[in-house]
Amino acid sequence: MIDVTKLLVGVPVMDEQHASLVELYNALEAPGSDLEALWGAFAAYADFHFEEEESLMRQYAYPGTQAHVAGHQAYRATFERMLNEPGGGPGAGREAMLAYVATWLAEHILGVDKHFAAFLLAAGYAPRR
Ligand SMILES: [Fe+2]
Ligand SMILES: [Fe+2]
Repeated sequence: MIDVTKLLVGVPVMDEQHASLVELYNALEAPGSDLEALWGAFAAYADFHFEEEESLMRQYAYPGTQAHVAGHQAYRATFERMLNEPGGGPGAGREAMLAYVATWLAEHILGVDKHFAAFLLAAGYAPRR
């Protein structure tokens, strides 16, 4: 179970989307969860969230865009690979995938996402109304 209050970056739109991602992750982790359906929902929401962050990066000409986007892509590639591994995916690979996703989320959010959030706030980011 991931505690989202430990992952706040200070930009409301990012914190809200991270909270939704964590909620989906925690549902996945729950015993007896419908992995087949939930992994799909998690992956789709992650894609949506990455695109939102990347569009903010372009909008604010964030100097770290390339490396951050590469981080999102590397995550997607590993996630896809694990999902499609023979004997892996939402069956035998369940624990490995959950561990990978939990670790990646925490490290990514507290690392590069936090860095990007600080840049946005310093650049005068204000939520769209
Ligand atoms: Fe993020
Ligand atoms: Fe990110």
